[in-house]
Amino acid sequence: MTLILGIESSCDETAASVTLDGRQVLSDVIYSQADIHKLYGGVVPEIASRNHITAISFVIDEALKKANVKKENLSAVAVTNGPGLIGALLVGVSAAKGLAYSLSKPLVPVNHIHGHIAANYIASPTLEPPFLCLVASGGHSHILNVKDYGEFEVLGATLDDAAGEAFDKVARVLGLGYPGGPKVSKLAEQGDPNAVSFPRPLNGCDFSFSGVKTAVINYIHKLEQNGQPVPHADIAASFQAAVVDVLTSAVEHAAVKTGAKKIALAGGVASNSFLRTSLSSLAERLGVDFFVPPPTLCTDNGAMISCAGYYNYISGNAAPLNLNAYATLRL
Ligand code: KG4
Ligand code: ZN
Repeated sequence: MTLILGIESSCDETAASVTLDGRQVLSDVIYSQADIHKLYGGVVPEIASRNHITAISFVIDEALKKANVKKENLSAVAVTNGPGLIGALLVGVSAAKGLAYSLSKPLVPVNHIHGHIAANYIASPTLEPPFLCLVASGGHSHILNVKDYGEFEVLGATLDDAAGEAFDKVARVLGLGYPGGPKVSKLAEQGDPNAVSFPRPLNGCDFSFSGVKTAVINYIHKLEQNGQPVPHADIAASFQAAVVDVLTSAVEHAAVKTGAKKIALAGGVASNSFLRTSLSSLAERLGVDFFVPPPTLCTDNGAMISCAGYYNYISGNAAPLNLNAYATLRL
């Protein structure tokens, strides 16, 4: 019986979870700071760090309490040590170190992107590598060949903005506020995805979102300068269609290239229903299986870190107590 406490603080969610044997979630406590950061239109790193400090002990205690697990019975303490906001990451890493030291338990580092992928193991208990995974979140957009539980090959990635970052920036110019992804997606339901033809830059498995963001801004400015009405819903729908088309085509390219038999989706943008449907249709067309976690496991959470931590732990990947956090940690 392996009980892992997973701690996540890489951005604006303070989260902790206890899992049993990797895939069974006993508790999953998430304290979101979104309401604080929306006042500023995006995550303010220093404010995020300070709020993590205030919340972390309570969140960890709640996770243990809800799981009905005494900390002395934990097998290990897992924590996100990158990539992410450095000050925010350090709060989780310091808390994990303190706990691991005081309990004499192994300290297990987890790459945040590995965590997002692992959300699929929780949602689909029989899923095993190898599979292809698109991780699309606020800070990352990668297409990965997940060769084994701890072995990844990057097949493609964004050359500039992450998909979620593009959603957040477009939400800001449409006056929708932060976090932008869900708001753009909601507004897009009332718009025509073919109303505006925004660019879809793609090079094999690599892609770019900086251009589509600029195209949206220029499109709005031009209409405003000409005194014409700005069709917000059509712009949201057309932007979303461009992003989803690009991601789907890049995944298709990677799937054909590698002959993948399974395709998985992960990360905050994976809660986008248009993207879920598009990738699910692609998988059907290619005759491969499709996996995606429920939206609550797509955005940042502790359960995914605990699950990834389990696989790191059973393969002996514990860290010494001088473990550091890294803003740009690679998989
Ligand atoms: O994985 P996540 O919680 O944090 C990072 O690791 O970055 O992802 C957050 C990102 C934000 O950019 C947010 O706008 C985006 O995921 N997002 C969405 C949706 N829900 C969250 N983007 C598009 N459609 C959504 N429904
Ligand atoms: Zn994330």
